[in-house]
Amino acid sequence: MHELVLRDYRPTYICRRCRSKAAANRETVATVGHRLEKKIVVGEEEWRTYLAPERLEVVRQLEPWVEEHVLPLLKPVEASWQPSDLLPDPAALGADGFHAACLDLRAAAMGVPDELLVCLVANMVTEEALPTYPSGLNRLEVVRDATGADDTAWARWIRGWSAEENRHGDVLNRYMHLSGRFDMREVERTVQRLIRDGMSVHAPTSPFHGFVYVAFQERATAIAHGNTARLVGARGAGDAALARICGTVAADEKRHEAAYTRLMGKLFEADPDASVRAMAYMMRRRIDMPTVFINDGRHSVGDFYARFIAIAQQAGTYTVSDYRCILEHLIRQWGVEELATGLSGEGRQARDYLCALPRKIKRMEEKVIDKSAKAQNKPTAIPINWIFDRTIGVVLP
Ligand SMILES: [Fe+2]
Ligand SMILES: [Fe+2]
Repeated sequence: MHELVLRDYRPTYICRRCRSKAAANRETVATVGHRLEKKIVVGEEEWRTYLAPERLEVVRQLEPWVEEHVLPLLKPVEASWQPSDLLPDPAALGADGFHAACLDLRAAAMGVPDELLVCLVANMVTEEALPTYPSGLNRLEVVRDATGADDTAWARWIRGWSAEENRHGDVLNRYMHLSGRFDMREVERTVQRLIRDGMSVHAPTSPFHGFVYVAFQERATAIAHGNTARLVGARGAGDAALARICGTVAADEKRHEAAYTRLMGKLFEADPDASVRAMAYMMRRRIDMPTVFINDGRHSVGDFYARFIAIAQQAGTYTVSDYRCILEHLIRQWGVEELATGLSGEGRQARDYLCALPRKIKRMEEKVIDKSAKAQNKPTAIPINWIFDRTIGVVLP
């Protein structure tokens, strides 16, 4: 029996267990014996209320504040690092120097264990799917860059942010190519598939919901790159150059996180009821990594993602505990617990749901640990084509 969740902006259903995507309508779902969760349909009506002119006006009025407090979080091109700064540069080193530097890079990369290599690929693929993300921001009402060269603070942010992000995939991709430890053709095919398949977002045109997602996700990405930096730098001899690359990317993500968290914080000030309800809406549906449709060409959509999530959990690059900590952080940042005045009944319910959620996730973490301990001796060997089909032993949930 599969549990289906309606992805609420298009007639598509995702199976919660196998994560396979079924383009389906209500009748199809009924014929395959699945229950449609009514509350999700109600949810769709809820997020669409955020497109009312008075709600969008709250966002529109923030533009001068974005100019003053958010845009300065972007770095000028002249002050930005570039992938060439972090990798052997043939123009600067000459042929022999470049060759020697590449040999050093390859030797250091030999120390990185397979499960971290797999996590590194997932980090890189997430970054390389960049074309999907500005498309998402350009779907948001008020915020979107309507012409592609708008002069609004919103549009300049979207383009400047995308330009900074573009370096992340470049630097990771180039490191991986030079290291010789990856089947690059398989990795490249994964990137192409992920961009082709896109990503599933809830409430796709509401800026309130969109900023909750991006604030959460930028922090998640900063944590994933930061944990990867710490782990690849620490094991054995360690790969200091790779640790530096991942750490540099993580620092960018933290700046981006600050921008989106500030922005959402301002929305919380301007309309606490709408903001807390949008946050609860998003958390009820869970914040998935943008790689939720990642696949290796062998598994159904979602199946490979579930395997990867188990590997990341085991490797320690992104864990359930990280997810809970991000939520706790955002609850503190946006003063969710203290919200009282101006809340509707639904707003109070949303606040109470959010404040209780970290405890629920904590119980889930304990179950995961308990289950892993019990199943210690029977990990599943997962062959990963990104690393020439070597297997990763992982205890699947
Ligand atoms: Fe990034
Ligand atoms: Fe980012």
